[in-house]
Amino acid sequence: MKRILVTGGAGFIGSAFVRYLLRTYPDVHVVNYDKMTYAGNLDNVKECPPDRHTFVRGDIADATALGAAMEGCDAVVNFAAETHVDRSIMGATEFLRTNVDGVYNIMEAAKRLGTARVLLVSTDEVYGSIDTGSFKETDPINPRNPYSAAKAGGELLGRSYFTTFGVPVIITRGSNTYGPYQYPEKVLPLFATNAIDGQPLPLYEGGEHNVRDWLYVDDHCRGIDLALREGRPGEVYNVAGGNERENIELTRRILELTGRDESLIRFVPDRPGHDRRYSIDASKLRALGWCPRMDWDEGMALTIRWYQENEWWWRKIKTGEYLEYYKRQYAALSAITE
Ligand code: NAD
Ligand code: DAU
Repeated sequence: MKRILVTGGAGFIGSAFVRYLLRTYPDVHVVNYDKMTYAGNLDNVKECPPDRHTFVRGDIADATALGAAMEGCDAVVNFAAETHVDRSIMGATEFLRTNVDGVYNIMEAAKRLGTARVLLVSTDEVYGSIDTGSFKETDPINPRNPYSAAKAGGELLGRSYFTTFGVPVIITRGSNTYGPYQYPEKVLPLFATNAIDGQPLPLYEGGEHNVRDWLYVDDHCRGIDLALREGRPGEVYNVAGGNERENIELTRRILELTGRDESLIRFVPDRPGHDRRYSIDASKLRALGWCPRMDWDEGMALTIRWYQENEWWWRKIKTGEYLEYYKRQYAALSAITE
């Protein structure tokens, strides 16, 4: 694989994947195709060598532009998505457009061009919530919010193109990913940057004991890369962090690492349809030789330190559209604070 198209490569995990490819494979050229929504950020790829990294501003829902970018690429790895559950609850139009229609365009172009590999980056959220045990790839999916339903729609289209047309599609389902450069709407960077500023942490009341399985971003990238190279077309691979934590425990750790106390916690109304626990079994990917390398304590310490040392990166994000979203999403917070 010499020329790889990465869609959504200016976002959190996509940009980490682009950086990972460029440092791991000296002969790879990355075409980074990203619409630059509110979550896209060229600061995330500013260190990438221009002779091996071509940025194309484009929308996966634009079939013509996407087809042109895919031409001559040996593989496509799709990270492009609307990704925030709370925003999907406010309105899901863009989620359907990108996460379903966009994936359809990728599949159509791959069929036409004979692309050798297509990897769709999906999520453990498509399984829905599980009280005990862990989901395997063979378990039925049961997405329970508009974001995960749209991701499941994209996955199903991808799988149908494998069955019907033989397009070599591989799907990965990753768990909650954390690390540097994550847009501060997701709980970890939101709470970290708020805590650094001594601002309240809006914890969803009733969801404080809900569990997420935390996966360090570079471990997620290695899992995706292995599935891309060694996975079997038509198959799904879970990528699990192996670090299940209740939200309250995560919150306390962030407070501890930023030198703050629990007085910053504000309970706000719970997310509708809030999934209680995500848990997946990654033995299928482990059988190919993958395992997460980052230790939880170390990963948390270095991530929080990164947000402390890189205010230049997140301060300019927490303005404009972000603040409008924040006010809408956390209306209860200002009522509590004022
Ligand atoms: P992100 O929100 O940080 O980035 C998404 C990127 O996609 C942005 O750069 C955005 O500009 C781009 N994009 C959005 N719509 C587009 C379109 N129509 N055309 C082209 N580009 C578009 O997302 P992330 O957290 O890095 O997630 C990346 C992928 O990984 C997503 O597919 C998501 O579903 C999946 N995933 C995320 C997590 C997680 O915890 N963050 C876990 C498992 C799977
Ligand atoms: O599991 C993988 C998924 O993880 C990805 O597919 C999604 O793209 C990604 O956004 C993430 O989804 P979650 O909904 O699990 O992540 P989020 O950071 O939004 O929330 C994590 C937990 O924290 C969840 O139980 C809700 C809670 N939470 C979140 C926010 C934003 C709060 O208590 N308060 C908040 O303000």
